[in-house]
Amino acid sequence: MKQSRGDGVRLFRTIAGLRCFLELQRSQQRVLQPPIVAGELILLQEEVGLVPTMGALHQGHLSLIRRARRENAIVVVSLFVNPLQFGPHEDFDRYPRALEQDRALCVEAGVDAMFAPTVEEMYGQGEPLTQVMPPPELISRLCGAYRPGHFPGVATIVTKLLTIVQPDRAYFGQKDAQQVAVIRRLVSDLNLPVEVVACPILREVDGLAMSSRNQYLTPEQRLQATILYRSLQRAEQIFQRGERDSSVLIEIVRLELATVPELQLEYIEMVDPITMIPMDRVIKTGLMAVAARLGSTRLIDNILLRPNRKPMIAIDGPAGAGKSTVTRLVAQSLGLLYLDTGAMYRAVTWLVLESGISLQDEPAVAELVSRCRIELVSQADLQAPPQVWINGQEVTEAIRTPEVTAQVSTIAAQPAVRQELVKQQQRYGEQGGIAIEGRDIGTYVFPDAEIKIFLTASVLERARRRQQDLKNQGKGEISLEELEHAILERDRKDSTRALAPLRQAEDAIEILTDGLTVAEVVDRIVRLYQEKC
Ligand code: PAJ
Repeated sequence: MKQSRGDGVRLFRTIAGLRCFLELQRSQQRVLQPPIVAGELILLQEEVGLVPTMGALHQGHLSLIRRARRENAIVVVSLFVNPLQFGPHEDFDRYPRALEQDRALCVEAGVDAMFAPTVEEMYGQGEPLTQVMPPPELISRLCGAYRPGHFPGVATIVTKLLTIVQPDRAYFGQKDAQQVAVIRRLVSDLNLPVEVVACPILREVDGLAMSSRNQYLTPEQRLQATILYRSLQRAEQIFQRGERDSSVLIEIVRLELATVPELQLEYIEMVDPITMIPMDRVIKTGLMAVAARLGSTRLIDNILLRPNRKPMIAIDGPAGAGKSTVTRLVAQSLGLLYLDTGAMYRAVTWLVLESGISLQDEPAVAELVSRCRIELVSQADLQAPPQVWINGQEVTEAIRTPEVTAQVSTIAAQPAVRQELVKQQQRYGEQGGIAIEGRDIGTYVFPDAEIKIFLTASVLERARRRQQDLKNQGKGEISLEELEHAILERDRKDSTRALAPLRQAEDAIEILTDGLTVAEVVDRIVRLYQEKC
């Protein structure tokens, strides 16, 4: 997270300038924020977020930039109208360019560097170029079918930008769903060390997806354009009533779009959101995408159709606020799966101990963990903790031994372990109906969770509770001052650590538990959930 902010944004036209700036920033961050040593882990606070754009920034772009700002120490926005991704008869020449306005927006959003190179800086004097070719099946449909050369152009410029900036995270909008699929695949196939973050579509109040191209529309076309999202919403309604046949859903959109005769339809498709392969029926998640022209303006929009899943509860908060007790009880009373992340880390620790490899051998641990499969299964008796399985073996009891308890923090501090377990948690999340607690669940692991709670309590209250716990365990009396001091120190560490820092999501509901009983807190969360259902 950014701790100190400069007065304004730096604008770079050259790769050399930007690179030099980033190198300096990274080393300054290292000095400003020396590594925090927490247990075995050395944490560096110098993460870089990149938001690639073609400029003419609007609120859709800004939503990506704001997210990057929240999640990184240094934010770079690139603004480059990339000729390689425009066809010969497309709008490269008239594409809006508004650098001064963009600069003001970037200053306001706290961007550190804008990178707005010339075409020559990026591609030289017209000599033949190496290009990046995404797999044909990913780009032969949807926009790829109507814009040959577009996705190779996007893949090439994005690869160059990722190489120049070397960000930890790169942000893309779900508005261009096929672009997200192409980039995810590119990053995976070429093993690029960056996390691709896909962000939701931002819309005007009447539902039109924001786009730099909307400014081409006449006032009349601007009104007509709203039919795109209305037609997708209509299909979603029918989908949520149980219709799963893609051809029926596509027909609904087609009929709705036909009510605006000026609209020239390019495509309506239902595809798998990862592979872009057409789906006859939508079993899990389908991407319904449309493209159409109004006059000479090409508009695209899409919607993800997934069967109404049970909402999910994400509970974050500082240590000692009662998160795990509350989450367990909330899950019990609502019949949700308590996704016990602690049990997942224990299961992995058990596996490492069983395998005989050294706990400190991070690469070997990473290999082992990347191949493991953990399952948490609710028991018929909801009071009982979920059963834990790893690689097909039941380990519910085995993960509670003192050996595992003694080693779990060493394993949990390894970034590769966390990365893999977050992936497995997200797979659970796809089905919904889970309750999960941590420090960054609502901001990072499940930013789309329907209900986000930030459970907190004053330092004094947490110290009192801790004192009582210690007394109950016969561990003697520690003064409240000492405990408060320890809690403050823990809070500081938790919110500044690089791996899973404590963060409150903007849309989280804060519950201050001072003076509330556990039952009262649980009841409040249960009611919030029921209101949502
Ligand atoms: P551009 O169209 O400028 O979009 C930049 C980023 O903003 C893309 O990731 C796009 O999906 C996202 N975006 C645009 N409108 C959005 C909206 N309404 N809601 C959320 N996100 C939105 O896409 C490109 O540029 C280029 O292809 C690029 C990736 C920069 C490569 O040249």
